[in-house]
Amino acid sequence: MREFEGGTAVITGAASGMGLAMAECFAREGMNVVLSDIEERALKDAAARIEALGVTALAVQTDVGNEGEMDHLGRVVRAHFGAPDVLCLNAGVGGGGGPTHQITTRDWKWTLDVNLWGVIHGLRVFLGDMRERDAGHIVTTASVAGLTSFPGSLPYNATKHAVVSIMEGLFSELAEAGSNVHVHCLCPGVVATNITHSERNRPKELRNDVDGEAPREIPAQMRSFLDRVYAEAKPSSEVAELVLAAIVEGRFWIQTDGFFRDAIKARHRSIENDTDPPARGSLLSVYGL
Ligand SMILES: NC(=O)c1ccc[n+]([C@@H]2O[C@H](COP(=O)([O-])OP(=O)(O)OC[C@H]3O[C@@H](n4cnc5c(N)ncnc54)[C@H](O)[C@@H]3O)[C@@H](O)[C@H]2O)c1
Repeated sequence: MREFEGGTAVITGAASGMGLAMAECFAREGMNVVLSDIEERALKDAAARIEALGVTALAVQTDVGNEGEMDHLGRVVRAHFGAPDVLCLNAGVGGGGGPTHQITTRDWKWTLDVNLWGVIHGLRVFLGDMRERDAGHIVTTASVAGLTSFPGSLPYNATKHAVVSIMEGLFSELAEAGSNVHVHCLCPGVVATNITHSERNRPKELRNDVDGEAPREIPAQMRSFLDRVYAEAKPSSEVAELVLAAIVEGRFWIQTDGFFRDAIKARHRSIENDTDPPARGSLLSVYGL
């Protein structure tokens, strides 16, 4: 049985990767899909793909870090469909990486705007309607980077830890209120998407070369390592199926693989035992970096 048939899914970052895969998965369940993304061309193409599956696809170009644009997304969804049955706050960027003393204010701002404020605005705009209707599912795309503390991408880690904390807090808040709105926290490991190319999404005013500084390119050797690892990683369509299953089964945590389980356990043990943090080396060290 397709229990969500005729319902509405709203997805941020829906033009690529896991967002697009979730859009396709929900459309196959017979749901109408509101796709939002900052990239206009890719968003139009994605909406056409979803429409071809025989459901209504509405494309709303939105920068999730922009309060007014998220308010607009809320108004469009409310006018067309009312409160969403499934809300996926998924848009995200890799953000500025490297040694922390080299990370710029612009790197921090860009990463926090998209990965953290995108979720904050999404909840502010949609949660009230969903609670009033007393139904629906909210899925945020956090990361294993929100469950561990590897070095090399501190702005990214900070946003994902914040998203995990928001979702855990929201879970308790809704449970205490006896609400029928359910929340799910997706913590992917490495998934084959375009995330390592997210500089394409960086607004001009937050680029590091804006004042004539040379842009920091990913070194060629690292680029080919990343391209290989991500090309061979779990397909985003499989992650979308895991998300659907967690929604149907009412599970909070959605983990995509076991690669980082030891690192997560080791971190939790260090907190319980009051010992030094265990994570050393890059998050991608499990892939040979
Ligand atoms: N791919 C991985 O290995 C991985 C692992 C853990 C978590 N994640 C998270 O998964 C989520 C989806 O990323 P993905 O891996 O599918 O990458 P992706 O680059 O393929 O997709 C991200 C989408 O977000 C959009 N986006 C970027 N900035 C935006 C903004 N300001 N407003 C609206 N949309 C914006 C992009 O245009 C793109 O369509 C992100 O939150 C990311 O942090 C990815």
